[in-house]
Amino acid sequence: MQTNPKITQTEVDRRVFADEEIYRLEMRRLFRDGWTFVGLEAEVPEPGDFRRSWMGDLPVIMTRSRAGSVNVLENVCSHRGSLVALDRRGNCSTFTCPYHQWVFADDGRQLGVPMRKKYTDARHKDRGGLRAARVETFAGLVWATFADDVEPLAEYLADAGPHIDEILRGGDVTVLGYHRFQVRANWKLFWENTEDAYHASLLHNFSQALKIYQVGENIAFENGHGAIRWEMVSLSDDAMRDHLANAKFQLRDFTLFQSHDRPAGSWNRVVGLFPNALVLEEWDMLNVRHIVPKGTDCVELHTVALGLDGESPEKRAKRAHDYGNFFGPAGFAGRDDVVAIGAVQATEGVSSVRTSFMALGDLSERSGDLDGEYTVRAFYDEYRTRMGW
Ligand code: FES
Ligand SMILES: [Fe+2]
Repeated sequence: MQTNPKITQTEVDRRVFADEEIYRLEMRRLFRDGWTFVGLEAEVPEPGDFRRSWMGDLPVIMTRSRAGSVNVLENVCSHRGSLVALDRRGNCSTFTCPYHQWVFADDGRQLGVPMRKKYTDARHKDRGGLRAARVETFAGLVWATFADDVEPLAEYLADAGPHIDEILRGGDVTVLGYHRFQVRANWKLFWENTEDAYHASLLHNFSQALKIYQVGENIAFENGHGAIRWEMVSLSDDAMRDHLANAKFQLRDFTLFQSHDRPAGSWNRVVGLFPNALVLEEWDMLNVRHIVPKGTDCVELHTVALGLDGESPEKRAKRAHDYGNFFGPAGFAGRDDVVAIGAVQATEGVSSVRTSFMALGDLSERSGDLDGEYTVRAFYDEYRTRMGW
């Protein structure tokens, strides 16, 4: 990186999507030194439950300790640095590294080293355990950091907090299933795509015929968080006929856009949390997306589809079915988004278009019409500050 990338209110230097040195700096400044989303408490409900996760590109283990707390440990053995947990999820009381069987407690402490007596120098007998991160939870979302000096999580989530608390019903949710997929694109492009309502009625051409995005708002919160929300409308027979007559890929089951529990006029909403989480409630779909960077030009999206505690099996089945149809890798909307952000990444670093442009809406305001680019501007404003530029 020869000079710092220039980020103004409306333009972002596209080197931030391709530069190796910038990527390394992001991993440190955003994903180690700040709060980063790791998973959901609902994924580790019982003592001993664990699941593998990532803080940026750093492998971690999120585990429910026998004492009841959620711990986040580096999934990196203090002996020679092997991954300790290889399974995606499971339940165990201790973690044993597969390589030389060093054993660690659910808070990272080292419990056992085979052949310890053969270390001849006393200084070598205690090499330490798995590094534990500082962890806080909010509405069932688990966040971690390695910094002692960052503000409490609730303060960091700021005015986005009440929105996610409402969507996730204070954390009383159940995991219905997962989707994971990889895209050849920079991780930030997934965040902006999900908060970018400008494309919603244009790229996703089914939505024009169905007229599902009408009245709505685009809101920037403090600390780079933001939300888009729009009113649920009742689908008209004409709109459905129009779609079926003209669309290349046809949606035959329109119940996706109908919810028995949420009347027309309820808000569909997508809350983006800086830097790597997205909380969505759209029609009967409830899900949390975890953005996992895998290099400058590769990102994995890990999505947890959720239901509410105490719901009927029928309701859960509808949620899961709708989720797969709409957001899954081959879903109605997911498919378009993957192609779109891949198409952006494909031209990084080789073209005369040096900046990404985001000027829609009233630049003197922090919120406005649904298709204004308020949330995306707020994300890059926070990004610039946090990167020290
Ligand atoms: S690398 Fe883990 S025990 Fe050797
Ligand atoms: Fe989209």
